[in-house]
Amino acid sequence: MADRDTAPPAAPARTGTTRLRLEEVSTFYGEAQVLKAISLTVSAGQIVAILGSNGAGKTTLLKTLTGLVAPRTGKILFEDRSITGLPAHAVIRQGIASVPEGRELFGSLSVMDNLLIGTYSLSAKKRKEALTDRLEMVFSLFPILRERVRQKAETMSGGQQQMLAMGRALMALPKLLALDEPSLGLSPLLVAEMMRVLKEIAGRGDISLLLVEQNARAALKIADYVYVLDRGAVVLTGTAREVLESPVIQAAYLGG
Ligand SMILES: Nc1ncnc2c1ncn2[C@@H]1O[C@H](COP(=O)(O)OP(=O)(O)OP(=O)(O)O)[C@@H](O)[C@H]1O
Ligand SMILES: [Mg+2]
Repeated sequence: MADRDTAPPAAPARTGTTRLRLEEVSTFYGEAQVLKAISLTVSAGQIVAILGSNGAGKTTLLKTLTGLVAPRTGKILFEDRSITGLPAHAVIRQGIASVPEGRELFGSLSVMDNLLIGTYSLSAKKRKEALTDRLEMVFSLFPILRERVRQKAETMSGGQQQMLAMGRALMALPKLLALDEPSLGLSPLLVAEMMRVLKEIAGRGDISLLLVEQNARAALKIADYVYVLDRGAVVLTGTAREVLESPVIQAAYLGG
């Protein structure tokens, strides 16, 4: 029998550990195939960007990951466990939170109530942690949310609502945060601020980011690794630097 006292302690999560792996995932709407055998990996603490033009399948990829749509074939592994086909409420319990396109806040509820909704998937013990340390982290990332805790979500500006949606997702204590075009509709100044905050979140090391963006220029500034989707298939992968230097990307997404 192995001697428990001399067994090495479990290694903490570190950058480089694979967190999420998609293996040849294909998703259909009816008979229409939208995702074509997508494979990708996200490591701990990494920012992975998914780029692609309108209709490429970016949102469908996130919906497949978060359990809103089931893939027809392929596997999704999160921390080496299969989450393929799990419903959304079960996926969030595994530690994947998302900030959907259009934010989906509860407009008539306050900023604080929207943040609290983010904790509903948690156990009592975890919720306590969320309501202390994590709430403090959210307020320090987005000071405006602290100032406006009582304001109705629908009366916040577009940028503030985006911050609230991100704060709500963080309140679920995710290990992976999936964001669908967080820069959409924001001024260039706010886009830069949003990217800085995303970098800061990933920099803590315990949360990986899967960042779907049409704003390739902004995403490439912070991403570690990039997948470019076209008509449902991965057409290019590489580090942000490699993708930036690709003539295809220059022509298609960065205006030459
Ligand atoms: N519920 C649905 N039923 C049928 N087809 C759908 C559905 N949702 C999306 N599609 C189709 O799937 C394809 C991919 O759509 P998706 O929303 O994933 O693209 P996207 O890359 O997120 O685009 P955008 O940049 O415009 O948000 C499109 O052709 C779209 O019309
Ligand atoms: Mg989309």
